[in-house]
Amino acid sequence: MLLRRVTFAAVLVAATAVLIAQDRQGATVIAVDAAHPGAAMSPKMFGIFFEDINFAADGGLYPERIKNRSFEFSEPLAGWRKVVPGDQGELDVRGDNPLNASNPHYLRVRVYQPGLAVANSGFRGIGVESGAEYRFSTYVRSSGPRTLRASIEDENGRAIGAGTLSGFDGAWKRYETTIRPSATTQHATFTLHFDEQGAMDLDMVSLYPVDTWGHRPNGLRKDLVQLLYDMHPGFIRFPGGCIVEGRRLATRYRWKTTVGDIAQRKTIINRWNNEFDTRPAPDYFQSFGLGFYEYFQLAEDVGAEPLPILNCGMACEFNSAELAPVDQLNEYIQDALDLIDFANGPATSGWGKLRAEMGHPEPFHLRMIGVGNEQWGPHYLERYTPFAAAVKAKHPEIELVVSAGPSPDGAPFDYLWAHWRKAKADIVDEHYYQAPEWFLANTGRYDHYDRSGPKVFAGEYAAQTAGVARTDNRNNWRGAIAEAAFMTGLERNADVVRMASYAPLFAHVEAWQWKPDAIWFDNLRSYGTPNYYVQRVFASNTGTRIIPATSRVQDGLYASAALDERTHELIVKAVNATGDARHVEVRLDGARLAGAAKVTVLASADLEAENSFDEPTHVAPRESTAEVKEGVVAATIGPYSVNVWRVGMR
Ligand code: AHR
Repeated sequence: MLLRRVTFAAVLVAATAVLIAQDRQGATVIAVDAAHPGAAMSPKMFGIFFEDINFAADGGLYPERIKNRSFEFSEPLAGWRKVVPGDQGELDVRGDNPLNASNPHYLRVRVYQPGLAVANSGFRGIGVESGAEYRFSTYVRSSGPRTLRASIEDENGRAIGAGTLSGFDGAWKRYETTIRPSATTQHATFTLHFDEQGAMDLDMVSLYPVDTWGHRPNGLRKDLVQLLYDMHPGFIRFPGGCIVEGRRLATRYRWKTTVGDIAQRKTIINRWNNEFDTRPAPDYFQSFGLGFYEYFQLAEDVGAEPLPILNCGMACEFNSAELAPVDQLNEYIQDALDLIDFANGPATSGWGKLRAEMGHPEPFHLRMIGVGNEQWGPHYLERYTPFAAAVKAKHPEIELVVSAGPSPDGAPFDYLWAHWRKAKADIVDEHYYQAPEWFLANTGRYDHYDRSGPKVFAGEYAAQTAGVARTDNRNNWRGAIAEAAFMTGLERNADVVRMASYAPLFAHVEAWQWKPDAIWFDNLRSYGTPNYYVQRVFASNTGTRIIPATSRVQDGLYASAALDERTHELIVKAVNATGDARHVEVRLDGARLAGAAKVTVLASADLEAENSFDEPTHVAPRESTAEVKEGVVAATIGPYSVNVWRVGMR
């Protein structure tokens, strides 16, 4: 967390899931006793943490190209500038007779002489691709001019696309046309040209790619969703993170303002706008074009369970720590009840009706809700208690995720856990932003957790190679392989650890606030980091039943095993966190095996290795097969490698 201390612990020996021993020939033996499978585990264990930090939503997954499209930023003309100076016209952001009450400002352009032009700079420029289609749309109310021309210019000011809207009158109406640029550029400018004298009002000015995920008009950026899809995430936690809490309650995340017509969604400041002096982002706002409907849809698209986190009457305790009085929690509780209705209720009434009107009559199958983000202390319990009572009374089927605070240990953590055990909480959310060494030392963290107590959600974690949220953190293999070793510990304890997600997910290379992050992108391109690929390898190779723990880690080799009852496969993972190649024998006892093993290896001999736009898969999984002879897969596993074997069972 923001002010969290990093523990640079020594690497300890920790328990592993399967028997690892040394045989007489010097090979390390990983013995898996398939005849005695253990507890059930969730095949949806490894998922995604999404938060609108680092321009993850506006400027990222939400591919609107126009910044401040609705003139609602605190600096009302942020992102916009008059291109033709002088007295050819005037720009005025006004609030009389707006488009609607939640979108109270609009731009009035008074054209004194044709030729006036207004340009938008986009989110660190506008990315467009040659030949792709972009929908230019805007609401217009005109007291004279009948046409509005738009153009796209490349970095050198050369026009590479244009479109014209026409037929306006004196009432607000939405108009659209399509522009097909003739060149590809990361940093284009979008310009509106006013060719007729008179006044024209504009709102919700948009340039939006047609080719979105699922070809939806308000759809998400395709390459970024593809990376998520390829991960096979078990769940998606949204919308964060601290953004749920807000720096003050007034700017907390309110899901109801993020659904319905996008022109009616109320833009507010993003809490990461001014969180870090070192990384100011005064132009960081939330348009909520990506709102709760789109999050649920995304979850469905990528096959993940939705996990919304809601505010329970507490602003971020690292900021204002503002509290809603305990006797005034109704609004917060009602938000939770209404959200369940929005997600699961009938399409014919209440909030379910809105979901249906938005295009999804079927329910979204919401089964879990998080109550607060990184909350801690007695104030949290005072608010959680009535919140949970009301939700459980009406919806006993919904599991509640509760916070263990911002740190993986310490007094606030112990205080909350003591309460959660007594209260028989469903799922407790633990966060760890720690050094790589901490992850290696803590692979046995859950070996001794109470098997009958609350389940654990490792809801936010990432190895911090330099220090918590430091700008010199790296998404290198050093951090990623430590996370992989740790994840074998999560998997071995999957009867306790229900879910886990790396955080944060996305970062724009020119607009980030927090490092490290799983996926980096610019205005057109994206790549997964080694940390992303670790998540992907684990999430794509999850079983339904643990093969129980029998032994301890040996010399930097960490292992786990599971049975996938859906595909009838044994899945064995071994992370070699040492710099030496190892001879390994995976002995699959107690099973009648069928065919060769499918092998996935994610490795780099260089702990500093990173991926980049130029080498997006420098550290990425490679697939192959291996022979299984008399129940044994013999392999030489590389230095610093993550290895997965999947073997079919008869
Ligand atoms: O992941 C970034 C931030 O770290 C999250 O918003 C918060 O929950 C945690 O402190």
